[in-house]
Amino acid sequence: MNQVYESKHPLVRHKLTFLRQTDTGVRRFQELVWELSALLAYEALADLDLNETAVTTPLDEAAGHVLAERVALVPILRAGLGMVDPIWNLIPDAQVGHIGLYRDEETLQPVEYYCKLPQASQVDVCLLLDPMLATGGSTTAACNILKGHGIERIKFVGLIAAPEGIAQVHSAHPDIDIHVAVVDCCLNDRGYIVPGLGDAGDRLFGTKVDEAARIPDIAE
Ligand code: PRP
Ligand code: URA
Repeated sequence: MNQVYESKHPLVRHKLTFLRQTDTGVRRFQELVWELSALLAYEALADLDLNETAVTTPLDEAAGHVLAERVALVPILRAGLGMVDPIWNLIPDAQVGHIGLYRDEETLQPVEYYCKLPQASQVDVCLLLDPMLATGGSTTAACNILKGHGIERIKFVGLIAAPEGIAQVHSAHPDIDIHVAVVDCCLNDRGYIVPGLGDAGDRLFGTKVDEAARIPDIAE
């Protein structure tokens, strides 16, 4: 059964507040996504296995450890791209795959347009990256793609999730843990997370601001 890990870290809560803020500009939004992604990946990877080794310091021999598991990072394009570099900086040996999905605005169903993944035989654990888990359609589709490719051990790392999306992933993929900064209230009638942060891809890449993604009742 999957677990949902909502970060309790004070830095995560602090940074999330500014991430949500309507007037946070593109550059600061990107920086906050980078900072939050590193913090959340740090928490999500706390159970990685280690091999023991020895290391020679200038003074003596010391016991040491190296990662025993090979990590893959797989962003869901496009907003997941914003989460890759800060985690890759922590694990430079990670392989990076890409899954291109967009949500059809009418049906809210994910549409696949790109897929390039590492070989399953070279991956022990995969971090599936997307800032937003809304209806759960994109995450579920990405997990289907990963498993179809032979990548079975998957942890989803995101910034904001809706209960509806967690339930959807839970029912389709009960083996996948979900690590997020926060679980929000619900979805609006356009499938946006409330209170959320609006459209993550648009805010990351500076493309159009969708008025439907704003939450005037709460923000004003
Ligand atoms: C957003 C987000 C997720 C998806 C979440 O991407 O980054 O991938 O929506 O919604 P869901 O849980 O209801 O599937 P979007 O489809 O807007 O594409 P983009 O990243 O290219 O903007
Ligand atoms: N995608 C986003 O970028 N934001 C939401 O609130 C829902 C889906």
